[in-house]
Amino acid sequence: MKSLRLQLRFLLPLALLLVAAAYITVPLMDRLTLRWFLRDLDIRATFVADTLRGNLSILPGELTLETMQAEFNRANRDERLLGIALCDSQNAMLLRTPSFPEGVECSLVGNPAPTQSRVLPLRQGEIHVAVAPFNIGAFSDDRLVVLHDLSYVHRRTADSRDYLIMFFVGLGLAIALVTVLVAHISWRGWVAGTRALLRGESLLKPFQPPPEMQGVANELRAMLREMDEERRIRLHAEAWSAERLRNLLNTELRGEQVIVVSNREPYIHTHKDDKVVVSRPASGLVTAIEPVMRACSGTWIAHGSGDADRETVDRHDHVQVPPDDPSYTLRRIWLSEDEEQGYYYGFANEGMWPLCHLAHTRPVFRLSDWEFYRKVNQRFADAVVAEARTEDPVVLIQDYHFALLPAMLREKLPNATIITFWHIPWPNPESFGVCPWHQEILRGMLGSSILGFHTRFHCRNFLESVDRFMEARIRLEESTITFDGELTQVKNYPISIHWPDAEEAASWPAIDTCRSALRKRLGVPEDHLVAVGVDRFDYTKGIIERFNAVDRLISKYPELRGRFTFAQFAAPTRSALDEYQLFVHQAVALAERINKRHGRDGWQPIQLIAENQNAEEVNSHYRGADACVVTSLHDGMNLVAKEFVAARDDLRGALVLSEFTGAARELEAALIVNPYDVEVTADAIYKALTMSREEQAARMRSLRAIVSEDNIYRWAANMLLDAARMRRTERISARIVSSGEMR
Ligand code: G6P
Repeated sequence: MKSLRLQLRFLLPLALLLVAAAYITVPLMDRLTLRWFLRDLDIRATFVADTLRGNLSILPGELTLETMQAEFNRANRDERLLGIALCDSQNAMLLRTPSFPEGVECSLVGNPAPTQSRVLPLRQGEIHVAVAPFNIGAFSDDRLVVLHDLSYVHRRTADSRDYLIMFFVGLGLAIALVTVLVAHISWRGWVAGTRALLRGESLLKPFQPPPEMQGVANELRAMLREMDEERRIRLHAEAWSAERLRNLLNTELRGEQVIVVSNREPYIHTHKDDKVVVSRPASGLVTAIEPVMRACSGTWIAHGSGDADRETVDRHDHVQVPPDDPSYTLRRIWLSEDEEQGYYYGFANEGMWPLCHLAHTRPVFRLSDWEFYRKVNQRFADAVVAEARTEDPVVLIQDYHFALLPAMLREKLPNATIITFWHIPWPNPESFGVCPWHQEILRGMLGSSILGFHTRFHCRNFLESVDRFMEARIRLEESTITFDGELTQVKNYPISIHWPDAEEAASWPAIDTCRSALRKRLGVPEDHLVAVGVDRFDYTKGIIERFNAVDRLISKYPELRGRFTFAQFAAPTRSALDEYQLFVHQAVALAERINKRHGRDGWQPIQLIAENQNAEEVNSHYRGADACVVTSLHDGMNLVAKEFVAARDDLRGALVLSEFTGAARELEAALIVNPYDVEVTADAIYKALTMSREEQAARMRSLRAIVSEDNIYRWAANMLLDAARMRRTERISARIVSSGEMR
């Protein structure tokens, strides 16, 4: 509306100006053209008179009225000549051509000298009268009268007037069109600028709106600054809990639908001894997302992989979970064996997993796996569309199993807010580029509204990969990518764990109980030193490097012989894959070799327990150990490190942590090691086992402060607040655009 008024403000004076110009110019042009035509007729009349006189003067013999009449008639053949006459000095008409109009008397035309013209108004219209002296023989005192029809002059003048008016109207329309076009283009520029501003793209490099829009732009900027500030204060003011996250979902997202997509389901139903039992998988991802789902009562879509899963769903493949306190819906997707083999084992775990983890295991890429991966991503996309109750749900896509899903979803639900979180590292462009479908993967991921990684370093690797392989606009300062007209915000959201409240921690078994239980389980005396490792049995976890460090530790510090045990709890994982079987075999063989080398009197330095442990057991191991050792060769975050810190409310125990984990960026008070450096790792474990109580407490206090603050609820809140902000922005800009289209 505003722009229409602005345009009218310009167009009205322009129209008035053009009317005034036409008002002055048209009569002026009329007079001018008439004068030109009269002058033209004067010249013609003189020419006719001269020719007539010339022809008559060369005639042989005496001039008679008859010979003159014949000459007059011949000269009068020109169609514009109305008539020619000869008047004597007494105003008697001696001769006239037949077309000479009645009523034009010699007395009317006067007695000019030399040739003179005038316009006579007659009944049949105006005529041009030219009078010239005859000057021949006996008729030398007589006058020639030449009459021209003026009607064609008037017709032509009227034509020119019409053309002139048409010219003015055309000019007016052209100027109006250009004005509207320019206004429209600058309006669109303004809208684009405003959208950029709302998205935060221009906070560092403010766009310059036209002066009349400056006020609105300033207001918008101020509003955004206020919102950001408010948000910053709110985020940091108090601790994040499930309750606070629930409130945030209700206020910021006003209870909008939240859909989570992951490969691994949070609850698996299996048959055991003729009964159906439910268990939770050993997955960091599930640990992280479950509290969010409990808080928002949404829908979680995942692969139904348990052998009793089909028996426990309703006809929509839904089951309410958690089983003891149902608070959200789990929608299961069924995969055929071929699909699971190609998509999960093949492309995701033999391709993407080693591609993203720099652990020196070669990725394997097969075309058939890739095709299954694409097909299964499409099946999950269809399921999201089927579960969506609105056209703009908030969809949280988890991990490397679904690189193609964001773009597939964007196509079907263009208004959805798609948050993709990549739980594993993102490699540098050289490493990533070996994947034959690297462009398709990037294109798929760029369907996300927000793309999250654990660390800034992984974000940078991703931006560099897009820069290397795609035609996209990248803004490094704002960490955004515009591809195919869509904007993706790339941001780091370090994941964390649920931080137990006092009541929950009070329900845990006492530290002494845990210490005894762990030592009993290992078959070692009560005063035995114990360090634990708790991992999935995966080649990225640095288990072999850890064993080598223990080997070196015992050799270097012989006083630990018989007094120390390293307990490795390793949950079997992806056992169908050769690479994993080989790795388990190597790790078991290495542990045996080391135990053989150092073991004596029933004591062994390493105990490898390749079993799943439930959450309570793991927590008890953490509480009972003197140290926890995390030596991943490459890890997106590593939640074991954070869980260990959360378990140690007694401020005892020490954490040895690989520098190649995302967690090392936050947990600086841990003993940070390069797991490839056996000497350093062995020394760090020794230091952990012999550290003074004071130092343990000081380090643990600092670690606990960080993890308790940056807990899983803050991780989720950060992402969801960004999503809420993005949705608000989209709505405001949609309103601006639609009001622009109405004008
Ligand atoms: C680890 C990774 C996750 C991944 C999960 C898959 O927890 O950190 O990013 O999603 O493994 O494990 P799975 O057993 O489902 O293959």
